[in-house]
Amino acid sequence: MKSQDIQGALMASIAKVLVPEQMKAVAEVVAKMPFVAPTHSVALKDPNVEEGRFIFMDRCAQCHRFNATGEMTFGSPPLIGLQDWYLLAQIGKFKNGWRGVDPTDPNGTKMQQSSGFIESEQAKHDVVAFILSLNPKKEDETSADSLFSNTQATQ
Ligand code: HEC
Repeated sequence: MKSQDIQGALMASIAKVLVPEQMKAVAEVVAKMPFVAPTHSVALKDPNVEEGRFIFMDRCAQCHRFNATGEMTFGSPPLIGLQDWYLLAQIGKFKNGWRGVDPTDPNGTKMQQSSGFIESEQAKHDVVAFILSLNPKKEDETSADSLFSNTQATQ
């Protein structure tokens, strides 16, 4: 994280004061919160969802999975459930070297390098629009948790 990244610095200062037991306790509470999919776009400009689908399947799905639910073994987080302004901002931070540039952080490095696959501002909006389209629709919300675990889905 770079010092220009004000939001990153704010979050880092809060995270640093948590002792390990508190981190675990906070994670347990947050993990139990209901999944809420974004219902509308707040920041996308003239996105082409089909173009975004092509970019995502070609350059993102191998790590974030075809449905953007993430892959724990790769350290790739889920991308559904996040709002468009946040996705745009994070891709921007990776691209301009504010995030994922610490050499001791292999997962950050992987994504920092992958952000180079998004070659333009338009491509960024296209791929984020496609990610938003993967969110479960309103009537599926109560079952959205099942998307995140293929091991539990069979139980
Ligand atoms: C080689 C594997 C890999 C590829 C390919 C990849 N990512 Fe990632 N991505 C990651 C990892 C690992 C992280 C977590 C980085 C971290 O821990 O800081 C991440 C994080 C992100 C985040 C930040 C999520 C958050 O909650 O802050 C976004 C957004 C993202 N990726 C989008 C994409 C998009 C869009 C593509 C395709 C253009 C893509 N990624 C391709 C591995 C990958």
